[in-house]
Amino acid sequence: MHRIAIIPGDGVGPEVVRESRKLLDFICARDETVQLAFDEFGWGTEYYLRTGEMMPDDGLARLAGYDAILFGAVGSPRVADHVTLRELLFRIRHGFDQYINLRPVRLLPGIRSPLAAAQPADIDMLFVREGTEGEYAGVGDRIFRGTDRDVALQTAVFSRHGVLRAVRWAFELARAEGRSVTSVSKGNALQYSGVLWDEVFAEVSAEYPDVEAHELLVDAAAMFMVMDPRRFGVVVASNLYADILTDLGAAIMGGMGLAPSANLNPERRFPSMFEPIHGSAPDIAGKSLANPIGSIWSTALMLAHLGHHGWAAAVQQAIHDAVASPGTLTQDLGGTASTQQAGDAVIALLDHASPAGQQAAADDLAGPATAESAALPAVD
Ligand code: NAI
Ligand code: MG
Repeated sequence: MHRIAIIPGDGVGPEVVRESRKLLDFICARDETVQLAFDEFGWGTEYYLRTGEMMPDDGLARLAGYDAILFGAVGSPRVADHVTLRELLFRIRHGFDQYINLRPVRLLPGIRSPLAAAQPADIDMLFVREGTEGEYAGVGDRIFRGTDRDVALQTAVFSRHGVLRAVRWAFELARAEGRSVTSVSKGNALQYSGVLWDEVFAEVSAEYPDVEAHELLVDAAAMFMVMDPRRFGVVVASNLYADILTDLGAAIMGGMGLAPSANLNPERRFPSMFEPIHGSAPDIAGKSLANPIGSIWSTALMLAHLGHHGWAAAVQQAIHDAVASPGTLTQDLGGTASTQQAGDAVIALLDHASPAGQQAAADDLAGPATAESAALPAVD
């Protein structure tokens, strides 16, 4: 039995997480070896407006006993974004030492990339984003606030320990997947943090002579993601750079609604958290327009993390099949399906997967589709 904490959050968060829950309920009903118990936590902006905090003081302690967290999104025009994001999402990522944020960027067959000539084989990357340090560490100060001398200091934190473990994880992933690793940094301008990052990358790279290694400056990486995305396999980058580049990644894979992520504590001392990379999308919230695929794909990553590899692969296959059929696409992908209809379509395609059939489904999949399922256990 695995215990899952669900934090739907704000905006479209609850709408997309509902579809993930529906899918998990379907799998549990279908396969008695998958046993999940859910508890939902109503933390987010509404909770903040009621209580003055985004989650209770003992929030982390209450989550600590769970095997995984399924997260929707957080953020509302009614509360400053740095409060909502930092006091809920970052508290969990940092507090549970989720130092790997795995973000697959993959063009699925049937989806049109805004890169005119791109085919699925061209866009297939695994971003490894460092999740606890960099500009997001929360170190800094604000002085002379409210005067003309107002000064803000946001200190980027790069520790040898922090860079080393992220880069090593990326190399392990690349080795398991038979892919190259590209490090993204800015060692020409950032003579302290960028240079430390580059030194650690070179050192780890020497430990993995069998893995092809490349280094790019972040500006060039942004350019190559558009001009020549084929060159990327595993990409390792700091918290801020990978945050920005994976929105670009979501765009070239067809849209924000598709992109999944896993915030991992690889040692499993704490629960890992699974969430689409998009935010609360207040512009479309409450209208059943949100694409649930990013959340459902993240749920597949969670199933793999929990050891249910057959189902993880089957869900990924169902996502592939669903987006190849124009009738099941949501508005962001040019279709007319509602959030619920898109979620139902994935479940209907899963309906044929029997526990015995899942391994066959996993074996049938071309390499990339099983990448995360294969990668997660290999690098525990
Ligand atoms: P956003 O990701 O919410 O939206 C950007 C664009 O993508 C919008 O046009 C939106 O409609 C679209 N979009 C997002 N998710 C979609 C989905 N599932 N289906 C179809 N279209 C989708 O980013 P934005 O607008 O910059 O931020 C909105 C709020 O979300 C802010 O409060 C921000 O702080 C918060 N945020 C929270 C994150 C999280 O919880 N992980 C991540 C990013 C932003
Ligand atoms: Mg982001």
